[in-house]
Amino acid sequence: SSMMHRLGFCAGQLGSLRLRLAGQLLPARAMSLKVGDKLPAMELVEGPEMKKVNLQELFAGQRSILFGVPGAFTPTCSRVHLPSYVRDYDKLKAKGISQVFCLAVNDPFVMQAWSDANGAEGKVRMLSDTQAIFVEAAGLSLDLSHLLGGLRAKRFVMVIEDGVVKQLDVEPDPTKATCTLADEVLQSL
Ligand code: BEZ
Repeated sequence: SSMMHRLGFCAGQLGSLRLRLAGQLLPARAMSLKVGDKLPAMELVEGPEMKKVNLQELFAGQRSILFGVPGAFTPTCSRVHLPSYVRDYDKLKAKGISQVFCLAVNDPFVMQAWSDANGAEGKVRMLSDTQAIFVEAAGLSLDLSHLLGGLRAKRFVMVIEDGVVKQLDVEPDPTKATCTLADEVLQSL
């Protein structure tokens, strides 16, 4: 996958196309966020205090990782994906990452419970895109109505420098975590 990283994409993009042709995804309605773009000035919610956070402010002046998951407590997200970032947090910091965020279309209370269940506090900050506004705007929404009851996030990871997307990988199969795992990102930093 390091070659894929060097080429600037991961197998995910081909997979998304296949899923899209199979009619399992909503057609992209807005822009698609891509490498080189600035994050939108959009408000999401962090934590059970329901603190509103502006994406541009949150990522300004920092070198950050933002990964997205289809849902808190789903098997792959809980067993593999979130734990990989908790485990590798210190290594990511050592490579110059100043903050790590996990985004899902889940409410902040669920996100907090998920963080608690995984010892993520103080390492991975949880962002709730409860209304799927970011994932829709970014072209990263996934219609999982049949499985999880609504519009969710694709499984993705971004490296963001001073609010600008420097790297973006999307999983071909959202139920699996491969190129979006922490150790894969570590290798590409
Ligand atoms: C998962 O295990 O992460 C998952 C399960 C169902 C739908 C999407 C993701």
